[in-house]
Amino acid sequence: MEKPHVIPLMGFGTFGRNGKNGIDAILCALETGYRHLDTAQTYDTEFEVGEALRRSGIDREEVFLTTKISTDNFGPGALVPSLEKSLETLKVDQVDLTLIHWPSPNGRIPLEVYITQIADAQARGLTKLIGVSNFTIALLEETEALLGKGRIANNQFELNPILQNKKLAHYCQEREILVTCYLPIARGMLSEEPVLRAIGEKHDATPEQVAIAFELAKGYCTIPTSGRPERIRSNFKANSIRLSPDEIARIEMIDRNHRVVDPDWGPKWD
Ligand SMILES: NC(=O)c1ccc[n+]([C@@H]2O[C@H](COP(=O)([O-])OP(=O)(O)OC[C@H]3O[C@@H](n4cnc5c(N)ncnc54)[C@H](OP(=O)(O)O)[C@@H]3O)[C@@H](O)[C@H]2O)c1
Repeated sequence: MEKPHVIPLMGFGTFGRNGKNGIDAILCALETGYRHLDTAQTYDTEFEVGEALRRSGIDREEVFLTTKISTDNFGPGALVPSLEKSLETLKVDQVDLTLIHWPSPNGRIPLEVYITQIADAQARGLTKLIGVSNFTIALLEETEALLGKGRIANNQFELNPILQNKKLAHYCQEREILVTCYLPIARGMLSEEPVLRAIGEKHDATPEQVAIAFELAKGYCTIPTSGRPERIRSNFKANSIRLSPDEIARIEMIDRNHRVVDPDWGPKWD
């Protein structure tokens, strides 16, 4: 029987990790213990991810690879060849998870056109799992109507203590769609948050580590990134912080819907 595909909840984002410095940072992440790398066709880091993986000497099967399909590759017949090109760039036979990066800008291409193509890519064995990113509840419902229940493994969207996206996260968790938090440390904007600082003092942790520990405690996958070795390591160490139910409840109170990634062509958020 095939092994179940477990998605490691502590991942490493690779947006901005380009070129030699990018390879060094991704390699540092692998040496630190991260076993999930998050790339995308538009980040231009697929080569860096594959290269760091090979240089690390870690077996391919031990590292979970996620990539995302650019909205430029949604047209009829375009998605599968674009994923084949991603595999070539990564120099792997298959990725573990492929996401639709964004719903088609302004709904230009109907969902059915690209969602059926990503299902086809999975059927061809190019990716073990399929999922979406920046999808709202309405889009997830439309996807389920097209593909059936249980096909979408993951929804990746902006989530951190000051943008908790509770309604969408709850919807996903009820349907066993794993939530992945992007901007999990709000791009360094959490350092002055009093509640995170106070909880951090008790655990000898930074506000960023408390944010990551919170996301893991909620059962979410989290994919912080940094180009600096000391931060790559300290973010990973958040993995061992255990927050109390009271601390989690206090963090839940600091949500203020502070959204950063909000293009004017994006979906109407929940
Ligand atoms: N699906 C999507 O549409 C989407 C959108 C955005 C992002 N993502 C994914 O999510 C990943 C994470 O998001 P992100 O990179 O935008 O934001 P992030 O991980 O929340 O923040 C990264 C930024 O915070 C700084 N930082 C890292 N660790 C820190 C620490 N311990 N203390 C203070 N500052 C710290 C980094 O600077 P230094 O490098 O100087 O440390 C970097 O500028 C991306 O890499 C990408 O893989 C997906």
